[in-house]
Amino acid sequence: MSADERRAALVAALTEAGSLTADWAPSVAAVPRHAFLPETIWVDEGDGNAACSRSEEPERWMRLAYADLPVVTQWDDGADDGARVTPTSSASMPTVVVEMLADLDAAPGHRVLEVGTGTGYNAALLTHRLGAGMVSTVEVDGWVTARARTALRGAGFTPEVVCGDGALGWGVRAPYDRIISTVSLRRIPPAWPAQTRPGGVIVSPVSPLLGGGAVVRLTVDGGGVACGRFTRSSAFMMLRQQRYEGAPVDDYLPGEWPGDSAQSWTKLDPGAVGDDWSAQFACALALPDVYYRRSGFGEGGWTWWLFDTAVTSWATVDSVPGESRFEVRQSGPRRLWDEVEAAHDRWESAGRPGCERYGLTVTPAGQTAWLDEPDNPLE
Ligand SMILES: C[S@@+](CC[C@H](N)C(=O)[O-])C[C@H]1O[C@@H](n2cnc3c(N)ncnc32)[C@H](O)[C@@H]1O
Repeated sequence: MSADERRAALVAALTEAGSLTADWAPSVAAVPRHAFLPETIWVDEGDGNAACSRSEEPERWMRLAYADLPVVTQWDDGADDGARVTPTSSASMPTVVVEMLADLDAAPGHRVLEVGTGTGYNAALLTHRLGAGMVSTVEVDGWVTARARTALRGAGFTPEVVCGDGALGWGVRAPYDRIISTVSLRRIPPAWPAQTRPGGVIVSPVSPLLGGGAVVRLTVDGGGVACGRFTRSSAFMMLRQQRYEGAPVDDYLPGEWPGDSAQSWTKLDPGAVGDDWSAQFACALALPDVYYRRSGFGEGGWTWWLFDTAVTSWATVDSVPGESRFEVRQSGPRRLWDEVEAAHDRWESAGRPGCERYGLTVTPAGQTAWLDEPDNPLE
């Protein structure tokens, strides 16, 4: 199959699935995704991210270029040590690309800023529809920026490509009608609403610390406040500056576990939160400064460790298969498991909502998550 045939098949599949709208279909049909991919790509077809080299496996490489799958193009911020621990740049999954473009609701005449240029493919789609003079794209990694610029030029697209921190936006071309981020954040940076025209729209993946992730669609009002709902779940790589490692466990618990912690018991299996995407996302929105680690202790048992970012409190909860009550240990001024359990109770009482019932309000002072309406905040 030729690249053109594969691209036509991708357009047909995305349309059939209801992901690709009629206004974006001509752009997806026209922009050659393979022209934005490097010689070696990594794609997970169900057994981990396997490498594929264009020169060694040209047929497979081209098939993967038009598969509805994310294509990893960089690991570990470009560290050339072969470790390949964390994917740090990619061409996103086509379904996600076109659904986010539908959320963006960009139209000819709109000036758009993209954050996270990556391969340049999404910038090419935007440029095809809106024109080169209307699109700016910001990428933090110098090597990735250079590659995208070359690929874009080679394919005949000349948006403005900037190397910098997209969390600062790109004030030079502001105000924008639309800002789209293709990299995930914990907090929407205040620069984005400030650089968006009143009535303009911001679309971005959001990944709270405690887990889960979803795309939010915010509308900016005249006062620089942005407000809107989550549209769909997502799993994007994190904005470089908002990755969070957490403090060493010793900073919370200097001696041996259980230290000075208080013991209690719960009927809520931590797996009901940590293994349930919607529950985890709801709790994470309610507790934006709480993060977790997981450790196993054999026979299917595992411990959920909870920590606060202020490094004052920790908790552990043991999930043991077949048990109906679970040991809790909590230390510090906050009772982190009690807070998670309360957030989980609120999620249950609200009818176990998916991400679409949640939303965010972003002001210059920070962001607040809410359920159903902005006047029903979670925190
Ligand atoms: C999922 S990829 C983007 C996919 C891209 N839109 C495409 O069509 O190929 C995310 C990109 O965001 C970049 N990134 C991470 N932190 C950033 C930041 N602070 N500012 C701008 N780009 C950033 C990464 O280097 C990576 O290339």
